[in-house]
Amino acid sequence: MSTKRIGILTAGGDCPGLNAVIRGVVKASWQLGYECLGFLKGYEGLHDPVRYITLTPKNTTGILTQGGTILGSTNKGRFAATVGVQDRVDLDHDLIAGVAKTVEQLGIEGLVCIGGDGSLAVAQQLHEFGIPIVGVPKTIDNDLQATAYTFGFASAVACATDALDRLHTTAASHERIMVLEVMGRHAGWIALHAGIAGGGDVILIPEIPWTFENVCHKILDREAHDKHFTLVVVAEGAHLPTGEMVGEERRGAQARLGGIGPLVAREIETRLHREARCVVLGHLQRGGAPTTFDRVLATEYGAHAVRLIVEERFGEMICYNPPEMGSVPIIEAVNQIRTVDPGGPAVQTARALGICFGDCDAGHSPFMARVAAPEVATAEEVELDAEFVLDMADAATEEALESC
Ligand code: F6P
Repeated sequence: MSTKRIGILTAGGDCPGLNAVIRGVVKASWQLGYECLGFLKGYEGLHDPVRYITLTPKNTTGILTQGGTILGSTNKGRFAATVGVQDRVDLDHDLIAGVAKTVEQLGIEGLVCIGGDGSLAVAQQLHEFGIPIVGVPKTIDNDLQATAYTFGFASAVACATDALDRLHTTAASHERIMVLEVMGRHAGWIALHAGIAGGGDVILIPEIPWTFENVCHKILDREAHDKHFTLVVVAEGAHLPTGEMVGEERRGAQARLGGIGPLVAREIETRLHREARCVVLGHLQRGGAPTTFDRVLATEYGAHAVRLIVEERFGEMICYNPPEMGSVPIIEAVNQIRTVDPGGPAVQTARALGICFGDCDAGHSPFMARVAAPEVATAEEVELDAEFVLDMADAATEEALESC
């Protein structure tokens, strides 16, 4: 009797929990008598020169807690032309045919693709060609439709929260404004959740337009209430008040976002004459061990992906909408990204706590003259005397704040 085989690959950027999914797939499929082949470097391993390793419970022992992926991954190369269904770039027919040949020759009954929107959009094209594939949603950005959580998100938030905890001590000791720039591309989930968990005072996300005046107003208001430091969390994809995003355009690839944090810190310094420092967290958020939540989620995703293959539900992606673990057609998940709802519960919670999203109208604030652009607020004007600031913490301030 021929061996039943399942294939698995990890595509796109790395993310905590990839190895936990691999282990989940290997163990669950082994229980059912499948052999598991792990393709190397994402989809690349499926096409000439085909590269894979046989995965067993034995050689995957101990990977549950490891960051990265033992199979390697890439978001560049022959299969990187697709950046989501809306900007879908059709893969070359011969490329897909080559993958189909590999799958057939190796007798693979189902292929598990662990990836974000770009990699799952590739999976959708392979499915349309007739290749038996299922998807597992991965990304620290948590921006895939159809699932409340992608694995990796909780770990990235934990990392950003830890960074905020550490920045808190310096901010408080030195009475500084500390700006933390976090990842997330076009979605503000990491900034929002880390900002709430790490006691951020200002959270700037792509989904909520903001102004420097309002951010500075919040800082001054905190000072008026004897809080002489402020933690600002800014998502890399937050738009500047002028509407632009900060990053590098790259030909034929997604723009590389980053750099808004230092810009925000500089502008606050210029306007308020306060010391403002920035930390760009960058890839630290994608590295290291997955949190316990992500280990459980990734393991469940792995086991359920095997179930989808056994039930021949190809072209579907696992999704988790608590308490249900289910699946949806991949196309539904990659059709458009899932962004933060500005009226949603997390934003409402943050606002209830007085966290500022930089969008409240500070036009009538008593601090307004002090937070306007530098040509309006002179150095003398912003040379705040503590007593004056405290004086301002009166009914007028309270009133202005209530309307935020
Ligand atoms: O999509 C995950 C992510 O980490 C984004 O948050 C970030 O913008 C991007 O990938 C960075 O990608 P790269 O590692 O290729 O620069």
